[in-house]
Amino acid sequence: MSLPGAPYLARQGADLQLDGCSLDALAREFGTPLYVYSQRAMLDAVAAYQRALAGRPHLLCYAMKANPSLAVLQTFVQAGCGFDIVSAGELERVLAAGGSASRVVFSGVGKTRAEMRRALQAGVRCFNVESQGELELLSQQAVAVGRTAQVSLRVNPDVDAGTHPYISTGLKDNKFGIAHDQAVASYRRAASLPGLQVAGIDCHIGSQITQVEPYLDALDRLLDLVEAVEAEGITIRHVDVGGGLGIQYGTEAPPQADELVTRLLQRIDARGHGHRELLMEPGRSLVGNAGVLLTEVLYLKPGASKNFCIVDAAMNDLMRPAMYQAWMAIEPCHRRDGAAPTWDVVGPVCESGDWLGRARELAVQPGDMLAVLSAGAYAMAMASNYNSRARAAEVMLVDGQPVLIRERERLEDLMASERLIPRP
Ligand code: LLP
Repeated sequence: MSLPGAPYLARQGADLQLDGCSLDALAREFGTPLYVYSQRAMLDAVAAYQRALAGRPHLLCYAMKANPSLAVLQTFVQAGCGFDIVSAGELERVLAAGGSASRVVFSGVGKTRAEMRRALQAGVRCFNVESQGELELLSQQAVAVGRTAQVSLRVNPDVDAGTHPYISTGLKDNKFGIAHDQAVASYRRAASLPGLQVAGIDCHIGSQITQVEPYLDALDRLLDLVEAVEAEGITIRHVDVGGGLGIQYGTEAPPQADELVTRLLQRIDARGHGHRELLMEPGRSLVGNAGVLLTEVLYLKPGASKNFCIVDAAMNDLMRPAMYQAWMAIEPCHRRDGAAPTWDVVGPVCESGDWLGRARELAVQPGDMLAVLSAGAYAMAMASNYNSRARAAEVMLVDGQPVLIRERERLEDLMASERLIPRP
């Protein structure tokens, strides 16, 4: 198995390095738990999509839920990306990072009235509408604020993305999108409502997809609908195929972004839709392999049936193993010689589900630093304060130099918005 995160992540002798920086040294300088990202890896990931999209009308909208830190957004603004957002909070982050609402698509099944109004006032490019009720409410809000909402209907194509059930979103049984067989009627309704203008069509079939075929199946279903809708005299300018491209955690070998895009464009051209603008909403594939989580070994606790390696990062810092039984590689920052017993790598949180990796062969001692790999996506983004633990700090390597992009949360931050009950 090649090292997930290579070539940005590599061993120099015993030392694990990201962009040429020693992770052991970074952990000791900035403290742990610590997220470290390679900006170069993020920019190269965007470039792979852009290469294949060059010369075609397109907008690459970074699905910022994967990693919404301001410096990460700033990196993608500078790379020319738009953004896929799912809340008003995400919109404010895009604006704070210097992004433009005119390059934002607003997804999500539960947009509130207030979020719609804020997005209309900011001038987001398009709403990806997920239900009939949302269409009606958006029309009312657009009329109320005197704006026209550009809409794209998120259609549920009912294809199996072949991924974990929690991150598969394009099946009939999922809560997402408008059913394929109701889509034409919904477009008719959208075209008739005041304050709305039909702009496009959208889907998102799941996440951590490692094959091209589910995308092509979903694309075919979308293009069938585009043809049916346009036959009714309603114009669809853009096709948004969503995000979902997988990354390497272990032995997976997902297609490269440029390969995926090339195959999609070939299918679009073959069906005579080459004039349409293509939108994509990648999240994980732009940031996942660019990041690592660093953690210090606190205690080793050998046992009769299991050995536990207790580290200072926990499920509140990295929820993916606990929530999806996700397998993420764990490597010592500085490799030691000697025996490598099998450990369950667990955190300090009071839950048996608090583990980062199970049955890992590691030569470790207390005080050593470990790196959890492929931790740039849905990692810090999903961190919580469970067990009153402050969230980790984040460092970005910019031109090979570490820049602190998020301070470690302070314990007083955790209590800042709380109030004691006034005494009588
Ligand atoms: N567009 C929409 C509408 C989405 O719901 C998502 C992700 C994306 C784009 C980006 O998908 P990506 O390219 O990142 O696969 N927390 C889970 C993943 C949840 C994905 C949610 N939606 C995990 O850690 O695996």
